[in-house]
Amino acid sequence: SFGPVPLSVMYMRTLSWIFLFLLVFSVTTVWYITFSSNSAIEHTNIMYFYEHEPIHRQRYLFTLREHLKCKDTNPFLVILVSSRPKDVESRKAIRITWGSQKFWWGHQILTLFLLGQDTQREDNAAALSVEDESILYGDIIRQDFMDTYDNLTLKTIMGFRWVTEFCPNTRFLMKTDDDVFINIANLVKFLLKLNSSENFFTGYPLIDSFAYRGFYHKTSISYDEYPFKLYPPYCSGMGYILDGKLALRIYELMSHVKPIKIEDVYVGICLNILKVNISIPEDKQLFFLYKINFDICKYRHLIAVHGLTSSEIIAFWQELSSNTSVSC
Ligand SMILES: *[C@@H]1O[C@H](CO)[C@@H](O)[C@H](O)[C@H]1NC(C)=O
Ligand SMILES: *[C@@H]1O[C@H](CO)[C@@H](O)[C@H](O)[C@H]1NC(C)=O
Ligand SMILES: *[C@@H]1O[C@H](CO)[C@@H](O)[C@H](O)[C@H]1NC(C)=O
Ligand SMILES: *[C@@H]1O[C@H](CO)[C@@H](O)[C@H](O)[C@H]1NC(C)=O
Repeated sequence: SFGPVPLSVMYMRTLSWIFLFLLVFSVTTVWYITFSSNSAIEHTNIMYFYEHEPIHRQRYLFTLREHLKCKDTNPFLVILVSSRPKDVESRKAIRITWGSQKFWWGHQILTLFLLGQDTQREDNAAALSVEDESILYGDIIRQDFMDTYDNLTLKTIMGFRWVTEFCPNTRFLMKTDDDVFINIANLVKFLLKLNSSENFFTGYPLIDSFAYRGFYHKTSISYDEYPFKLYPPYCSGMGYILDGKLALRIYELMSHVKPIKIEDVYVGICLNILKVNISIPEDKQLFFLYKINFDICKYRHLIAVHGLTSSEIIAFWQELSSNTSVSC
């Protein structure tokens, strides 16, 4: 009987192959990590991105521009919501929830959506086209660049350009995303309590973040595009709020600064060049980078929370507006 012998030899072989594989894998990983941290430049030189001539001015054309929205008014706050053409449900949810009320204590709030050009042809005849949506609601700003994840920075630049050209008198500007729940009453109260400064910029702060070089495409950035190890201080794109006059200075600067694909970091680079410090909210319960489950007291207190579906936005809004039985 020689049956069991070759079997155990086979197991040994398999095991040594697995061992060899693990060895090679860990050596490669260690090498990769060492190599990648060495090739990033330790000291961030933000002027690397700056050009004396405005060679980075974007020349995309507005295909929907709502240029009369601010014509005879000076809004207190303009909220620009980054959204993709196909996210009709998210826009609908925002229009009937936190975007529904246009005045708070006599202060005008304008909520508009930022879109690029749809990348795939819309075959679904039942779906409302972006053009129809724009005619119905008059709240869409769009330029003729392709709406892709890597073009989000172009969308943000478009937003700043829109404010500069069509709404330069707004007191404040907020840029956010369509999966964000905003407690708009709190936001307005927060802004009314501020001591006005032309350098005001706040949100969820990200300080000393590492530039990510991994395999997750959305947030990964190449050394070519961003050669430094750390990002300058910036606020998450889920919701940053700034003084309206600062928005004009940032837009002016943007034509001198090479766009990088991560839009909130790009705005952080501009702030850094302008020597504007971000204001870090003392209260840590105002901005949430990740979804938190509904809790009436937390939602009554916060300003913005990121990562919600359109149905959660609607449900949480209804709960927040109707449940007056609890006191916090
Ligand atoms: C961004 O939009 C431009 C203009 O439509 C397009 O040429 C380019 O391929 C897009 N870039 C990315 C990374 O999607
Ligand atoms: C605004 O300024 C007043 C007077 O200088 C001060 O008492 C108050 O604490 C300031 N408020 C904030 C939010 O900084
Ligand atoms: C910004 O912060 C730096 C470091 O904390 C400080 O030295 C500088 O004075 C601040 N600038 C302004 C304009 O407040
Ligand atoms: C109000 O909120 C409390 C606590 O979250 C909950 O127990 C209660 O069921 C809610 N009431 C209604 C009417 O939704």
